[in-house]
This record gives sequence, structure tokens and C-alpha cells, in this order.
Amino acid sequence: MERNTFTTVIGWIAAGLLVSKSVIADSAAADASNLDIELTRLIKAQNISSIYSDKGQSTEKVALGRALFFDKVLSGSGDIACATCHHPNLHSGDDLSLSIGVGGDGLGYERKLGKARPLIPRNAPEIFNRGASQWRTMFWDGRVEIAADGHRISPADEKLPADKLENIVAMQAMFPVTSRHEMRGRKGDLDVSGQPNTLAAIGDTDFEEIWERVMGRVLAIPEYVALFKQAYPELATDELHYAHAANALAAFQTKSFTFEDSPWDRYLRGEQAALPEAAKQGAILFYGSAGCSSCHSGALMTDQKFYNLLVPQIGPGHRDSSGFDIGRARVTDQKKDAFAFRTPPLRNVAITGPWMHNGSYMSLEAVIEHHAKPLEMLQAYDASQLDPSVKKTFRLNTSTILVMSQTFSPEINVVPELNSQETEQLIAFLESLTSPSTQDLSYLVPQTVPSGLPVDR
Ligand code: HEC
Ligand code: HEC
Repeated sequence: MERNTFTTVIGWIAAGLLVSKSVIADSAAADASNLDIELTRLIKAQNISSIYSDKGQSTEKVALGRALFFDKVLSGSGDIACATCHHPNLHSGDDLSLSIGVGGDGLGYERKLGKARPLIPRNAPEIFNRGASQWRTMFWDGRVEIAADGHRISPADEKLPADKLENIVAMQAMFPVTSRHEMRGRKGDLDVSGQPNTLAAIGDTDFEEIWERVMGRVLAIPEYVALFKQAYPELATDELHYAHAANALAAFQTKSFTFEDSPWDRYLRGEQAALPEAAKQGAILFYGSAGCSSCHSGALMTDQKFYNLLVPQIGPGHRDSSGFDIGRARVTDQKKDAFAFRTPPLRNVAITGPWMHNGSYMSLEAVIEHHAKPLEMLQAYDASQLDPSVKKTFRLNTSTILVMSQTFSPEINVVPELNSQETEQLIAFLESLTSPSTQDLSYLVPQTVPSGLPVDR
């Protein structure tokens, strides 16, 4: 009897151990599935879907667009291409806080500013997934836009050949070639072979003349005539407009920089195991109590609206606003829009720093902290994190803070103070937006381009 009791007790203990073990296992599984239940509820409530971009582009247009994207012949002095600032090896950006345009040399961190040349006022955005149909705006200030009624808005107003442009990415591609600092150059510049830069000689608002001359240069190269013929067999060479080049640039960008395989997109398509637990917790914060999705909403993770988050003033700004970059107000001419910038999309954001419209932050942690306490972060901003040429342009004094604060967007107050664990979880979520396919995009870089200008620098 005694012995029996003993074995019974042992049995009870063993059974108890088993029970408690399985209770632990069950509750871990329950936690995981509770995360999924909670997250699924948030995804449904906010109508979040995975990214989808139509990659079905004409092969011939993509081939033409690829050549143009890497060819410095589009620039006034033959020294800069789209790829210089949106390089496949630099995650479709340039790794710099502020871009270096005409007259610069090199790529990425090593790119050097040309003598007596200004920095570009803004950070070169990544260009992933811009072919998605939800896009209505381009640029940090949304100066290129397709309005709700289909009306096309751009700095070229009625001069934009809107009927020839296939989509908003093509609309955007009309403008880098017209920008003096990005690609065109200054009056009096000489090109790489010592000849006068003929694009720079044209007046700033003479868009049609600029586009015509760019096309004139391109079509003086027989290989381009052949590429255009293949892409646009229905058009005679003299019917070609720079808009057709822009459509090809758009086809290349859409085809080549669209990736739908981030862990988050896989999760949204039903693969629950694609997302690590910390990222799920981060997603619950992002779509829940941290308030992020009130602006970074929908499939693109942006509402495409404009907010002034008191991001530190760095960069040369613009002459017509006393050296400030007043963002959206340059487009609308309304004081209320001063210092407001478009909510950026977030796919691949973990690999596309420096962050913000002017690359003022070097870590996602600082970016998140800035969202939680913008004024404090502005006042405490440490410019020593910037490259020396950028650091020189940092402006902070009482009057700057005052003028910026006047149009502060109170919508950002939804973001609460976040502790370090919550911040880590949000970062884990942001990291889950990185598509593994973006790791090596060097296959997009051609060996040569039709103009024969160098591609590797
Ligand atoms: C000198 C660097 C530079 C060059 C060269 C350049 N870009 Fe950009 N790109 C930028 C910067 C900076 C911005 C943001 C400017 C702004 O918002 O005011 C930008 C914005 C864009 C955007 C908008 C993305 C968005 O969602 O707002 C696209 C697309 C783009 N560039 C494609 C191109 C193409 C195509 C070319 C060549 C025809 C080109 N870029 C040439 C630096 C450059
Ligand atoms: C009120 C709207 C709003 C809310 C809420 C918001 N953001 Fe932002 N976010 C923006 C805007 C606008 C910018 C760009 C500001 C600028 O550069 O001037 C930005 C920039 C960012 C960037 C930098 C992206 C890049 O490419 O440079 C990240 C990352 C980011 N937000 C994440 C978050 C997270 C995480 C949350 C929640 C904790 C959040 N945001 C909440 C509007 C918002």
C-alpha cells in the first residue's frame, strides 16, 4: 500500500510535469496564434493588401529603357545618368543624405561633389514598386500628380505631352533631364569632351526645347534609332518625342525594381510562418497603438499626403525660400504646407538609408524616435552624423525652429512614446519589408550603353 502510494505519487508528479510541459507548449502556440489572430484582425480592419505591380512590360521598351537609364547621354555634360542616383547596386538610391548631381564624380559614399557645385536639396528616394497602380504622386513634394479626376499635374503645366505618357512613372521621367543640378548643367558648362553643353544653354521653362534637344542627341546614335524602332514599330523616327523615352524608362523601372516577395508580403498572402515573431509584434504596434498606419497606410504604406514632422533643415534649400526647403508649399504656394513632405512608402526601407526627405537620420531607431517626439529631436539634433559637406548646411536656431513649428502637423501626435522593446519590434517589422531579391541587383547593370559613355562610374 505504501509502495503503491509512492508510485502513485511519482505518477502524479510525472503526470504533473507532463501536463505542465504541454501547457507551456500549448500556451506558446496560443501566443503565436494570438499574434496572428490580432494581426489578421488589424489587416482586415485596415484593408491592407500585399504589393502588386504589373510587371508585364514590353520587352523591347524595357531594353530601350535600360539603355537610357544607364546612359549619361541624357545629361547636359555627359557626366551623369539616372543610375548614378538610383543605382541597382545601391538599392535603387545613392546611399547619400543628399544627392550629388552634375559635375560630381564616383558612386555611392565615394561620390564627390564637383567644384563650386551645390548639393541636390533632397535625398534620392528608392524607386521600388513604383509601377503599382495605386501611385498618384511622385517626388517628396508631390509636384508630379495624377488627380482623382485623371487630370495630370506637373511643373511643365500644359507643356507636358500628357497624351503620350503612359503612366505616372513616365511623367516623372520627363523632369530629371530638365533639372540643372540633377542632369542638365549650368549655362557656360563644358561637356566631358570639352564642347559647350548645349542643353544647359536653354531657358529653364523651355521644357519642349529641352526634350527636343535631348531626343536629338539620342537619335543621332544609330543603335538608339534601332532600339526605338523595336519599341515603337508603329512610329516613324521623326514622330518620336522624349515622352517615348520616358515611357521606356518607366517600363524598365517597373519591370526591374518591382519585388513582391518580402516576408511581410508573403505573410499578407497567407504564409503565417514567413514572419518572425518580433516582426509580428512590430506589425501589431505599426497597425495598432503606435499609430504608424494612420499615414503609412494601404498596400503602398503611404497615404501620399504631406506632413511637417519638423525634420531638421539640412541642404542648400531653394533660392526662392531663403535657402529653406519648404517642401509641399513650393508646389501649392500655400503657407500651411510649408515644410510638409510626402509620407514615404516603406518597402525595403531597412536597406535604403539615410532616411527622411534629406537623409538627416542614419538609423531607423532615430527615425522612430523622431516620430515620437519631433520637437525634442529637432532641438537635440546632432549634425556630426552628417558628411562634412552636408553638415555645413545644417541650420538650427530659435527663428528656424519657430518658423518650422508654425506649420507642424499635429497628426504625428498619434505616435506615443515607445520603449526600447517596442522600438526593436517596430524595427523587426520594418526589416520584414525587405525583399530578399533586392540583395543583388547587379545583373541590371549593362556592360556598355549605345553612346559609349562609361557606365561604371
Ligand atoms: C542627381 C541625382 C539624380 C538623378 C541623376 C536622377 N534622380 Fe531621380 N531623384 C533624385 C532625387 C533627389 C529625387 C527626389 C527629388 C524630390 O523629391 O524633389 C528623385 C526622385 C525620383 C523619382 C520619384 C520617386 C517618388 O516616389 O517620389 C523617380 C521615379 C526617379 N527619381 C527616377 C529617375 C529617373 C528615371 C532619372 C533619369 C531620367 C533620375 N531619377 C535621375 C535624384 C536623382
Ligand atoms: C502623421 C503621419 C505619419 C505617422 C503617424 C508616421 N509617419 Fe513615418 N513618416 C511620415 C512622413 C511625412 C515622413 C517623411 C518626413 C520627412 O522626411 O520630412 C515619414 C518617414 C518615415 C520613415 C523614413 C522613410 C524614408 O524612406 O526615409 C520611416 C522608417 C517611418 N516614417 C516609419 C514610421 C513608423 C514606424 C511610424 C509609427 C511609429 C510612423 N512612421 C508614423 C509620416 C508619418
